[in-house]
Amino acid sequence: VDAVNRQFRLAARPQGMVGAEHFDLVQEPLPEPAEGQVLVKTLYISLDPAMRGWMSEGRSYVPPVGIGEVMRAGTVGRVIESRSERLEVGDHVSSWLGVQEYAVADADGLLKVDTRLASLPTYLGALGMPGMTAYFGLLDIGKPEPGQTVVVSAGAGAVGSVVGQIAKLKGCRVVGIAGGSEKCSWIADELGFDAAIDYKTEDVAQELRKHCPEGIDVYFDNVGGEILDAALARLARHARVVICGAVSQYNNIDSMRGPSNYMSLLVNRARMEGFVVIDYMGRYAEALPEMAGWIAEGKLHAREDVVEGFEQFPDALVRLFKGENVGKLVLRLTDDN
Ligand SMILES: NC(=O)c1ccc[n+]([C@@H]2O[C@H](COP(=O)([O-])OP(=O)(O)OC[C@H]3O[C@@H](n4cnc5c(N)ncnc54)[C@H](OP(=O)(O)O)[C@@H]3O)[C@@H](O)[C@H]2O)c1
Repeated sequence: VDAVNRQFRLAARPQGMVGAEHFDLVQEPLPEPAEGQVLVKTLYISLDPAMRGWMSEGRSYVPPVGIGEVMRAGTVGRVIESRSERLEVGDHVSSWLGVQEYAVADADGLLKVDTRLASLPTYLGALGMPGMTAYFGLLDIGKPEPGQTVVVSAGAGAVGSVVGQIAKLKGCRVVGIAGGSEKCSWIADELGFDAAIDYKTEDVAQELRKHCPEGIDVYFDNVGGEILDAALARLARHARVVICGAVSQYNNIDSMRGPSNYMSLLVNRARMEGFVVIDYMGRYAEALPEMAGWIAEGKLHAREDVVEGFEQFPDALVRLFKGENVGKLVLRLTDDN
């Protein structure tokens, strides 16, 4: 066991694009578990667009990370010391232990994960928070019916790639919007989406007209901005617009761009509804066996994009906002003990 615990702490609140200058890399002595606690060695750290929001002051669904605090992040790791009956040395656990190499935590707050069912990083992706977001956001808020047309933006990302695949499993026509030809061919050729729109080189409004001749029944929005407006303009009657995120707007210096085509909701008797996945925590146990089953049967492809090395954290986070990740972006820490 290393003698020190490296951590990335929030150094400053970003105005505009997040970068390495907003974090301090610090070292602390290794923490020691008290009775009922375990010491966890972090193996993978989740990189999520929401982290940008947690760095800003202001009202949200969770309090912002304080200046000087360890950056909040989802993690999976291995128990290396245990003072609890609940967990043994060698057990793998997922939790929110933050951007640090080790952490002590109450054993009761940790979720034990089964590495025979899926690989560790999948517990941060399709079987983790993004997968639950896709499952409940699509099925509970979007309520797609077989034969309906589902459009998803950031369609090659952690959430979007799962949304599109679940929609296909439910018998829908699926159109994904993503940046670049590599992402578009992955979702269309390998994941089985019916069409992919490259918003970087194609006219989204025109392509939506072409691929959604009867309109969009469910639009699952991960990006906001212009793409949301293009989708609103193409809604079918009684459409559902699921507001999952607005990644195109998170690093804006000025205020967010809101939708201007919202009168389409009136014309089409449609609705637009936001949700936060943590509200579904009590129902994850419903979704997990079904999702794990789909993965085991090869019906759901869980893809992770792995960046190596703890010190890469700030640069890895920025990749999300440059669109450099395909599938779920995670940071892998060296596992030398
Ligand atoms: N409501 C909830 O509870 C909840 C939970 C989890 C996640 N979310 C939200 O879900 C969305 C997706 O999250 P994720 O973890 O799956 O991330 P992700 O999609 O794996 O990664 C972000 C992707 O966003 C796209 N993007 C970045 N900047 C963009 C821009 N300016 N315009 C259009 N697309 C842009 C990029 O793909 P391209 O190359 O295609 O541009 C990038 O790969 C985010 O908005 C996130 O905040 C919400």
